[in-house]
Amino acid sequence: MTHYNFDETIERKGSDCFKWDALPAMYGREDLTPMWVADMDFRSPDFVMDAIRKRCEHEVLGYTMPSEDYWQAATTWLQKHYNIQAAKEELHFIPGIVAGIAYTLLCLTEPGDKVLVTTPVYPPFLNLPKESRRTLVCSPLRITDGHFAIDFDDLERKAEGCKLFILSNPHNPAGTVWGKEVLQKIADICERKGLLVISDEIHADLTLPGHHHVSYSTVSEAAARHSLTFMAPSKTFNIAGLGSSVCYIANPDLRKRFFGWLDALGVAGGNIFAFTAAEAAFKQGEEWLRQMLDYLNDNVQTLDAFLRAKMPKVKAVLPEASYLAWLDFGAYGLTHKELADRLINEAKVVLNDGTAFGGVAYQRCFRMNLGCPKATLLDALERIEQMINKQ
Ligand SMILES: Cc1ncc(COP(=O)(O)O)c(C=O)c1O
Repeated sequence: MTHYNFDETIERKGSDCFKWDALPAMYGREDLTPMWVADMDFRSPDFVMDAIRKRCEHEVLGYTMPSEDYWQAATTWLQKHYNIQAAKEELHFIPGIVAGIAYTLLCLTEPGDKVLVTTPVYPPFLNLPKESRRTLVCSPLRITDGHFAIDFDDLERKAEGCKLFILSNPHNPAGTVWGKEVLQKIADICERKGLLVISDEIHADLTLPGHHHVSYSTVSEAAARHSLTFMAPSKTFNIAGLGSSVCYIANPDLRKRFFGWLDALGVAGGNIFAFTAAEAAFKQGEEWLRQMLDYLNDNVQTLDAFLRAKMPKVKAVLPEASYLAWLDFGAYGLTHKELADRLINEAKVVLNDGTAFGGVAYQRCFRMNLGCPKATLLDALERIEQMINKQ
């Protein structure tokens, strides 16, 4: 059995990598450790790279299409991991999940329609409705005992008159795994109030040991009827640069409408390397994923132990899925601007600014990406600790 080495430090600077190579233009300096953009600093798996190399041996890169083998691999993965019994016809390639959300807004809602989200949330959930002239409705999550929880009274009230709920399942930021009962409650509200639901399950495969992901469409007949589920191997196997996602719709009418729209947009053909990589990942990825999740879990424990020992005033929401942690520095008496400035210029660590996930309510909060070698994580934590405890 291959033992994968996630401790390896791989130089990503100079590879047109957004996480590292965008920093000089953003902050005017080169010496920063990026713990923001949600990809990992790990090598993409050997079996994925081999499949891409093999495909390159055929030197014609014309228009492509998903093969039977690709569909077989995708449907098997969904069935085995999430009990989604999808026929090939119930799935459609999408070039990315943000694109999938945008296509949904354009196809299934009208300008002015109300779109519901729970905050703090992945920024495109806020920006896409706003930029497409829909009306954004936010239901803030409750943060108690290091966990995000849905305020169902608020959600029920806010759902009134909405057309669409965009659900992050598991929830970004902080990788909250929603249990079956929570999802059933959401489904009940959305069914009664007539909302469609996008269940963005991009982080599902990154569910950490001890937790269990439940796919939204499987929780009730109503949920299956009113939902679109977006999944992808992109976060799972660190192949986000290839844009390879899939949309599952159980409801035939909804499917006809949305898949027809995707075909009209010309995105069904996908791209050669997306299919090649996804097929290899779905067919051969179990062991790599198991080892990688153990490594991530260890990083989460490392963060937890570090915070308890050296920065006990940080209120953290640790991931149950994904490599994303939500850190609230509010108890340290610094303003948001001071924190943001000192993280960059003193600690030299780039975190995501909490306000991007839902506005001023999330001042002094930052999202940290733990998808890196443990040595990188510890080095960044030491520098944050020196910065925060210096005052
Ligand atoms: C919840 C969520 N949805 C979607 C995406 C991006 O998906 P894609 O790259 O397929 O557009 C991310 C990336 O961080 C994410 O966290």
